[in-house]
Amino acid sequence: MTSEIKVHVRDEKTQYCQRHYMNQKILGQYFTKKDKWLKTHIKEFVISSGCSEIYDPYAGDGDLLKLSDNFGITKAFGLDIDSKKNFPVNDSLLKIPTRKNAIIITNPPYLSNYSAKRKGIYDSTENYFISSEYGDLYLIALEKMLQAQEYVVAIVPETFINSNFKHKYRLNSITIIEENCFDDTETPVCVLCFDGRAKEYSEIKVYKNDKYLNNLDYYEKLRLRPAKYLRIFFNDTSGNIALRAVDTTNPKSMIKFMKKEELDYDLKGIKISSRLITIIKLDKLKHDKLELFLEKCNNILTDYRDKTNDVLLSPFKGNMKNGCRRRRLDYETARAILENAYNNIYGEELLWTTSSYSNTR
Ligand SMILES: C[S@@+](CC[C@H](N)C(=O)[O-])C[C@H]1O[C@@H](n2cnc3c(N)ncnc32)[C@H](O)[C@@H]1O
Repeated sequence: MTSEIKVHVRDEKTQYCQRHYMNQKILGQYFTKKDKWLKTHIKEFVISSGCSEIYDPYAGDGDLLKLSDNFGITKAFGLDIDSKKNFPVNDSLLKIPTRKNAIIITNPPYLSNYSAKRKGIYDSTENYFISSEYGDLYLIALEKMLQAQEYVVAIVPETFINSNFKHKYRLNSITIIEENCFDDTETPVCVLCFDGRAKEYSEIKVYKNDKYLNNLDYYEKLRLRPAKYLRIFFNDTSGNIALRAVDTTNPKSMIKFMKKEELDYDLKGIKISSRLITIIKLDKLKHDKLELFLEKCNNILTDYRDKTNDVLLSPFKGNMKNGCRRRRLDYETARAILENAYNNIYGEELLWTTSSYSNTR
């Protein structure tokens, strides 16, 4: 190869890499090459829909359309905004045309408005966000899909479970997938099966991988919400409670409340925006009760994790070495746990103070 040709090939390769990178960043082009998400109950859901066409309005390379044989469906149709893909061009974040007797099976683009701003690509997505109440493209995509079709199967970030999506009542099931479904990203995902029928949350099934866990109503009722009656400050290094708010990959080092001295971390790294490791200040906690308090916090957390099968804790990229998904404790839930533990220790005392106060009025 002459040096001129070599340079040309290298330029083409660089251009291809740049285009690929921009397409991933702006269009969310991560393709679902693996079918690890296709659990038996999801396959049965598609078959029982009775639909005669698989439809992907964000088709990419068409990998999901290629799965139609699994459902005994022969027709498949896709759309994509990228004219370089082999499908008719459509902006499916604005409108998805309805197709007769079709079931949507897709993995739409994911991008929060916060990430779009951080990555400097907000301008290319602004028109979707300003005309929607949702802060992530995958939620906007879900809304458009449900406007177009009754039956929808969507692979989306697992954070959906804690989202404000308004049409959860049309779900048939949610399946958390712990194995990685992609070659080029570790985003934790779940599979949503919608059947278009309005129903109570008690009828919506929640699975983890192949296993049925419980119904959505069961989990929603267990959600911890703080009453905010205590002054608790997160990311205040003058406090004396440390929280490792994320599971490490070692199943023996999961989320934990501990003494500040136990934390193996330089406190200078704790910023106002820290979400994974923090120091908490709780003024009213007396020092002699600290150990008991931490024990109570950790017991409440363990109990919460057991009862909720981790369904309500935010997912974190990557799994622990035992294959379970790593989790992060958000500070609202942490605050509720701190309040519960505080109440556990000082509850009687608080009651006594209140009643003695009211008796002396
Ligand atoms: C995450 S990829 C998934 C592709 C395919 N569904 C799969 O699972 O392999 C998302 C696809 O949506 C396309 N896309 C992004 N924005 C779009 C829009 N506004 N309308 C239609 N397609 C869009 C991207 O080009 C990309 O191919």
